[in-house]
Amino acid sequence: LENTKLFKIEKGVILVNKVYTVPSDYNPGMNYYADTTSQKMKQDAAKENLIIKKGSSFRTYDYQKKLHQRYIRQHGEKDTVNSSAKEGHSEHQLGLAVDLTSYSEACKASFAACKLDDKTADWLAKHAHEYGFILRYPKGKEATTGFQYEPWHFRYVGIELATALHQSGLTLEEAQDYIKKALNLGDKS
Ligand code: DAL
Ligand code: ZN
Repeated sequence: LENTKLFKIEKGVILVNKVYTVPSDYNPGMNYYADTTSQKMKQDAAKENLIIKKGSSFRTYDYQKKLHQRYIRQHGEKDTVNSSAKEGHSEHQLGLAVDLTSYSEACKASFAACKLDDKTADWLAKHAHEYGFILRYPKGKEATTGFQYEPWHFRYVGIELATALHQSGLTLEEAQDYIKKALNLGDKS
């Protein structure tokens, strides 16, 4: 986490990762569109008999710090660095990310036992873009995102960009140049 920079916004799309940070006093709460759209996605999944539960969504800087430090205590620094963002480096602080789980008996008994099952994960990976969400940390993209595969973490970017990323298979990091170009083209007219 050396050489960090303040988050950047390209064509209205905020990039936050191990390099680009969120200030500690950035405290927007959950984004209205991300919230309502994730509800709609949940309702549509239910029509396919896939019951989705919303886990973690908006997190403050301080909460992310607590969470990250708890992970370090439980799993050690080495196993934490690629699974939990350090405070000021989490999309959850943007209010634009949701972690989703499936509903199960185990989950009913204890939230810690809630996990996304494969069938639901497949449905989400296939359909999230239709709602403006992207699977933010895909399998095989650990080197560009900086984080391990997280089938449960969805980031709201709007339908247009989500669809382009879904179809191209690019991560938000890999798409930065394209997003910038789209902005420049827009400026010319
Ligand atoms: N698990 C994701 C990377 C976060 O902590 O924001
Ligand atoms: Zn997450």
